[in-house]
Amino acid sequence: MSGGGGAADPSSAAPAAAMAAGAVAAGAPLLELRELSCRFGGLVALDRVSLAIEEGEIFGLIGPNGAGKTTLFNLLTGVTPASGGEILWRGAAITGLAPHRRNRLGLARTFQNLRLFNGLTVLENLLVALQRQPPASLVGGLLASAGHRRSERQRLEQAAQLLEELGLAGLAGRPAGTLAYGDRRRLEIARALATRPALLLLDEPAAGMNPAEKDDLCRLIGDLRRRHRLTVMVIEHHVPLLMRLCDRLAVLDFGVRIALGSPEEVRQDPRVIEAYLGGSPP
Ligand SMILES: Nc1ncnc2c1ncn2[C@@H]1O[C@H](COP(=O)(O)OP(=O)(O)OP(=O)(O)O)[C@@H](O)[C@H]1O
Ligand SMILES: [Mg+2]
Repeated sequence: MSGGGGAADPSSAAPAAAMAAGAVAAGAPLLELRELSCRFGGLVALDRVSLAIEEGEIFGLIGPNGAGKTTLFNLLTGVTPASGGEILWRGAAITGLAPHRRNRLGLARTFQNLRLFNGLTVLENLLVALQRQPPASLVGGLLASAGHRRSERQRLEQAAQLLEELGLAGLAGRPAGTLAYGDRRRLEIARALATRPALLLLDEPAAGMNPAEKDDLCRLIGDLRRRHRLTVMVIEHHVPLLMRLCDRLAVLDFGVRIALGSPEEVRQDPRVIEAYLGGSPP
């Protein structure tokens, strides 16, 4: 199911320009962090974190408040520069690549603090995100006006399908600011999906949801992975939810990756029990 699998030489890290053109290293993980660090003045928010995310997996990130989870997403999407280390996408370095170019490569995220247009309707919020899909080529962009009406219709169809998938179809005409919290979180996911990502980064998608909504979200993320052939990284404080949802997890504490493995391995890791879970396994 891999969309990668190109014939590029895996021993050489391709430059960013080649990356943007779709170069891949055969057999490389979808995403790899090598000794990634982030400092804010004297504060070390991430301390030489290494991870590899394989195509198709759901990968969880947990850790106490201030552990560096959101900072990690900010480095992955390029809004915060790394202080050290490397980020590789399908085997090639993207550490210095601008956020919009990473988005074109297939990285999309949701935010811990929701970033919707509250005055626009649910449908309009989605159409704005769909509008951001770049034309396939410069010529395509110049000719876009010719196909404008057709692409408008396509966007509406895409939006309707995404709203249906995310359980928001009945709310299409409502201003986003009037939605219940869980619905707003799902709209954020729909907006991220509108950019057709390969890797979806979800920052606390279940925050503010009740237990039933959390269960539904868990199922939804699994369904979306299958239907959209996604790889998912998810930050979540609700540990039981992550244990059910994820293939593997990493635990951050004070910017350091203190554990990595299957939910069972992480649950039994003495460092996790000690540092994060206050003495009793989750
Ligand atoms: N732009 C910034 N400037 C200075 N310090 C920052 C900045 N962003 C994050 N930090 C600090 O970096 C550390 C990690 O913050 P981060 O938001 O990544 O934690 P988190 O694991 O997402 O926490 P939470 O679970 O509360 O969301 C914290 O000490 C935070 O105060
Ligand atoms: Mg955070």
